[in-house]
Amino acid sequence: MIKISPSILSADFCNLERDIQRVSSADYLHVDVMDGAFVPNITIGVPVLKSIRKHTDMFLDVHLMIEKPVRYIEAFAQAGADLLSVHLEADHPTQIAQALKLMGQCGVKKAVALRPITKAEAILPYLEELDLVLVMTVEPGFGGQAFMETQLDTIRQVRALIEKYNPACELEVDGGIAPKTAPLVVEAGANVLVAGSAVYGAADIPAAIQALRV
Ligand code: DX5
Ligand code: ZN
Repeated sequence: MIKISPSILSADFCNLERDIQRVSSADYLHVDVMDGAFVPNITIGVPVLKSIRKHTDMFLDVHLMIEKPVRYIEAFAQAGADLLSVHLEADHPTQIAQALKLMGQCGVKKAVALRPITKAEAILPYLEELDLVLVMTVEPGFGGQAFMETQLDTIRQVRALIEKYNPACELEVDGGIAPKTAPLVVEAGANVLVAGSAVYGAADIPAAIQALRV
């Protein structure tokens, strides 16, 4: 089954509760945390996540685009994340492993994320313990960018590794997902689709979510 995870990066932050309710027919809610260092943008952090948790029962899929994320795993878990993804480029492998260990101790689902430059094989040291792998289909940092078709190969390679070592692991894609690109990523092996502008930019949001369920 294909799952849709609308990204609140494209929501109206002054009407966040309303905009979260508008995507309640989706499966997950994607929360983009950016620190202005790992990526050239600053978005939201722990206090906002805590407020979101009070107002929704949706599964909170929290994408950490921050340097040395190991420092913040417990804080985001306590704030109400259901799943945390850390970028493999954001710290040394020992610290990525430590971040995953902390996720386990905090009872949140574990994910790693790959920038477009990162090879599929980079997930191998962690794959057996992961709940989800997030393959970026744009350079992380901003919503509304064009889908990178070259990432279809990475999605296929990650899917092959998942099938071999941990078939229960989910494969999420993020960036430029719209009705035109959704069938391509699903064919390549993705099963969780993040979408920001394609959902919040639509006049009929439930229909836009349904249109991505290829
Ligand atoms: C980008 C974020 C994405 C972003 C996707 O760095 O990680 O989640 O919101 O936006 P769209 O769907 O508009 O490309
Ligand atoms: Zn994201």
